[in-house]
Amino acid sequence: METQGKCTADAQRKHKKKESGFTGQIGFVMAAAGSAVGVGNLWRFPYLAAKDGGGLFIVIYLILALTFGFTLLTSDISVGRKTGMNSIRAYEAMSPKWKFLGIVTFLVPALIMTYYAVIGGWIARYVVVYLTGEGKAAASDEFFGAFITDPHQAVLYAVVFMLITAFVVFNGVEKGIEKCSSILMPVMLVMIVAIAIFALTLKNTDADGITRTGLQGLAVYLTPNFEGITIRRLMQILLDAMSQIFFSLSVSMGIMITYGSYIKKDVDINTAVHQIEFFDSGVALLAGLMIIPSIFVFDGIEGMKAGPSLMFVSLPKVFDSMHGLGRFVGLAFFLMAAFAALTSCVSVLETIVANCMEIFHLERRHATIGLTILYTCASVVVALGYSTFYIELPLPNGSVAQILDLMDYISNSFMMPFISFLSSILIGWVIGPDWIIEEVEYGGRKFGLKGLYRFMIRYIVPVMMFVLFLQSTGLLGS
Ligand code: PHE
Repeated sequence: METQGKCTADAQRKHKKKESGFTGQIGFVMAAAGSAVGVGNLWRFPYLAAKDGGGLFIVIYLILALTFGFTLLTSDISVGRKTGMNSIRAYEAMSPKWKFLGIVTFLVPALIMTYYAVIGGWIARYVVVYLTGEGKAAASDEFFGAFITDPHQAVLYAVVFMLITAFVVFNGVEKGIEKCSSILMPVMLVMIVAIAIFALTLKNTDADGITRTGLQGLAVYLTPNFEGITIRRLMQILLDAMSQIFFSLSVSMGIMITYGSYIKKDVDINTAVHQIEFFDSGVALLAGLMIIPSIFVFDGIEGMKAGPSLMFVSLPKVFDSMHGLGRFVGLAFFLMAAFAALTSCVSVLETIVANCMEIFHLERRHATIGLTILYTCASVVVALGYSTFYIELPLPNGSVAQILDLMDYISNSFMMPFISFLSSILIGWVIGPDWIIEEVEYGGRKFGLKGLYRFMIRYIVPVMMFVLFLQSTGLLGS
């Protein structure tokens, strides 16, 4: 089986003719980090950290990133480069019997794309809010709800975001994706560092005369909170951190396979994986550093329990409390979030386009135009999921979903652990970890952690993914 997989891959590689690729290590790392850094880092990570014991969550997250994140990212990128193909074909090349896994993997971005531009549109709306000085209105409790339930506005912003994404993908890997990420990512990093430093200098005295400072907020963020910790609770934190890693690193959905297929043989995969992880975890930590102290200063510990509404409801209130400065900080924040969302959205569309080009032998332009029409329609439906097409669907984890949540649940909570579970069986047991290790070590490169990789992919990843999958089906409770 191993030899068979290798032969197919080698044969296919000889025939492949990629239209273009990343120019080198930096271009690739920027684009991959661009995919990884997104709303997950800015919005999901800080609220999970606030919910799951601050420093405790952070430590667990970092340990999992260095073990699971590293293993999954190394696998995806290596599969991409070694086969030179996208998920559907890549799995087939690894082992013909596992073609189905490539198709399942392809379905994840295909589903995510239906709603990612809608979220991008929400962020774009707030960029406009701070540009036009509507910050005060945005600080009211009703603003966000009124916006997403307004069919015209929700659709308009989603479609605009979708078209910008399509424009980048239309321009190709090097001139579109790499260029866009190489400009936006450093700008985003500078902005987030500046806002985080600013957040630490905040100070506010509330109506009860209590003064809170940004540095106290920092302590709340970083200090591990073991209050009420039980095994069950620890397990929950672990699972939260684990699913966050999937989402955040864009692994197990074919995206990193596609990006991996665009890199040249002289790129050092091992170093690239560390750099991408550093970027991704760094931005997540900085996002927490900026959001948690800001919320703490103006709303106290209670304010941090806002959960998902933190970014769109709580933060505009914080910006409003900053008076004149709030407009600029708000604009900087949402612009940065829009950049982060754009580079992620681009990676999702690119993966779908690339798979379709390969399967249907299409030109990039044609594939992009066709898929843009399709996904613009899908985004319209999802954007209308809070008005015209409003539904209330109970999910196995106990929450009630609208269309967007449903798509998110199927793709992220349900399919990703399932795919990682099967991929780790395929790599760990069917074709063998050496297939990947060989690719990382290609050209005499060092792969210092290959012992850890081998152990993780064979034993730890399958078990953990299976547990996560069971949890997503509701069988383990939530
Ligand atoms: N990794 C991105 C984030 O952290 C999200 C994402 C998910 C991007 C799926 C692409 C695909 O927000």
